[in-house]
Amino acid sequence: MLRSVMLTAARSGAIRGLVEANPLTRTVVDRFVAGSESREAIGVTARLAEEGLHVTLDHLGEDTTDATRADDTVRAYQELLSELHHAGLADRAEVSVKLSAVGQQLSPDGEKIALDNARRICESAAAVGTTVTLDMEDHTTTDMTLRTLSDLRVDFPWVGAVLQAYLHRTEQDCRDLATAGSRVRLCKGAYSEPASVAFQDKQEVDRSYVRCTRALMAGEGHPMIATHDPRMIAIAAELAERHGRGADSYEFQMLYGIRPAEQRRLAAAGHNLRVYVPYGEEWYGYFMRRLAERPANIGFFLRSLLTR
Ligand code: FDA
Repeated sequence: MLRSVMLTAARSGAIRGLVEANPLTRTVVDRFVAGSESREAIGVTARLAEEGLHVTLDHLGEDTTDATRADDTVRAYQELLSELHHAGLADRAEVSVKLSAVGQQLSPDGEKIALDNARRICESAAAVGTTVTLDMEDHTTTDMTLRTLSDLRVDFPWVGAVLQAYLHRTEQDCRDLATAGSRVRLCKGAYSEPASVAFQDKQEVDRSYVRCTRALMAGEGHPMIATHDPRMIAIAAELAERHGRGADSYEFQMLYGIRPAEQRRLAAAGHNLRVYVPYGEEWYGYFMRRLAERPANIGFFLRSLLTR
């Protein structure tokens, strides 16, 4: 109930105004967001890399309804990739892109605009020797995003995508994408979805996550197990071992600011661990989804607004 209220608020312009206007919000946002500028994101990346972690960087933004802003987002990614290269970090960090931030929702040619824009980002990533992963947004965009993935992979076979275990369709999508060279980031799913397309019960989502992990680990691709759930992590590690996978043939991924000690523990145990690091001014939607995931986060947020 609370989760769905928070996820509705995540898309409300009025509530966004209230949350953003409160000067104390920033202290809580800073727990989940690396900063407003690419310079800050690069600093966080360098620190995580020194600790043996890998990074994927997200220039925050989504649901763009303006072609100029979509273009600005492409340029922000291109500059970021160049900065990563100059900082000597392109072998440790890749980028994650939301297709709605690069024009997927623009009418009438959103899908084509997003494909062309994503292609420009992939060209810049290829030039510095790193990769791109497509984030997955609400279920109305899944088919479009997977079509874009397939088009991009013709020229950039290393492009990855997120699949969300809460969708009924995802176990089959995992089987379809568990092929050689394919990179799939498996998460549980962060949007408010109807029962017609998504499991509503946490245990059902977890069971689906295990079935999807099984399909990915049994396949020939590179599974990216994106979860903070200790049970899912233990099951994935056991499946990787059962399938004789070496440490470089899969990885664990977590969000910046969530379970940082566990991130370091997994890396110290010899696993590849990648941290998803968001930065930029457009933090509202991302931040509200993080609050929705955990009631304790909402309490933490409200307390920080009430106490100075
Ligand atoms: P679950 O929600 O069951 O949490 C397990 C435990 O993790 C909790 O008990 C708590 O200890 C900790 N935890 C989880 N969330 C927390 C939070 N916000 N604050 C503090 N502790 C928390 N989703 C999507 O729809 N599209 C996408 O493209 C992506 N991309 C993505 C990339 C990466 C690298 C990750 C890790 C996650 C995503 N997600 C996503 C988000 C994902 O769908 C999901 O909402 C969150 O990861 C939370 O789910 P868990 O698997 O962690 O399990």
